[in-house]
Amino acid sequence: MPAELPLVLITHTLPEEWLRKLAGQCLIVTGPPDADHLAPELDEHLPEAEGVFSLLTIPVSEELLSKAPNLRVVSNMAVGYDNIDVAACTRRGIPVGNTPGVLTEGTADLTMALLLAAARKLPEASKDAREGRWTTWSPTGWLGADLNGATLGIVGMGKIGAAVARRAKAFGMKIIYSDPNPHHEIEVVLLAMRKSLDKILTESDFLSLHCPLNPETSGLIDAQALQAMKPSAILINAARGPVVATKDLYRALSEGWIAAAALDVTDPEPLPSDDPLYALPNCLIVPHIGSATHYTRRRMAELACDNLLAGLRGERLPNCVNPEVYQ
Ligand code: DGY
Repeated sequence: MPAELPLVLITHTLPEEWLRKLAGQCLIVTGPPDADHLAPELDEHLPEAEGVFSLLTIPVSEELLSKAPNLRVVSNMAVGYDNIDVAACTRRGIPVGNTPGVLTEGTADLTMALLLAAARKLPEASKDAREGRWTTWSPTGWLGADLNGATLGIVGMGKIGAAVARRAKAFGMKIIYSDPNPHHEIEVVLLAMRKSLDKILTESDFLSLHCPLNPETSGLIDAQALQAMKPSAILINAARGPVVATKDLYRALSEGWIAAAALDVTDPEPLPSDDPLYALPNCLIVPHIGSATHYTRRRMAELACDNLLAGLRGERLPNCVNPEVYQ
């Protein structure tokens, strides 16, 4: 391989037009489309690799880093970076990039779609219609929950939480939130009230999760939290699967601790097709599609390219999750 251009490992096959910015800037070795671990054909190039462009399904671990002594940048095509051992990257002076901002609106849209679908029982109603159980206009059939006047609790008022709050306001919802830090954006200050998590759990008709996954939030919504919620409450998770304890959620939904759940993310992910959660009519599950719009995914890839190229040039990444590497 010619030595003049840096070698970059892209963990998945991605559309060429998403990666246009990389043309002529680096040599690229690409993994398969649906990789859930680093493909062997990439693994063997780790010793020469100067950049890794990863997706959230690939653990960028201490083990991977130890095989890549020439690595100068890790660019994750996601806003979340719980798949990356950031501390290990920092110890090696490797900046890690992520893609905040560009997926805010798309993910907030999907959150509202999940919330509405669960509130109005769309999966059950659609299934009944298709399978011949729509025999008349039923005055008592498929009754759901109103958004207007309901309380939405948001756990994690970052960019996505705030975008959900703005949408929920338009539906006439009252919004409360919990977050380790108060939100200062005036629009959010005016439309949502910060409370303790305990209060959010007990007061919410809808509880929507938008916090990052870290040691503090892993298992945050466990049996105790679910039991504190209203029996009529609906849980939406568009954050990370492990924020909710899966087995506890199954009990909560099957024993009526809460009314329903709508999940864009699960633990494990993907959730095996024989998982009992799929059999529950009050559990809607979609395959981590929060950012899955044409525009959003392309922008995420472009931002990941910007981070990667900056790292290869030895410049500060436009979006760096461990800026301490520059100190
Ligand atoms: C992210 O970027 O972290 C999202 O989960 C992708 O949809």
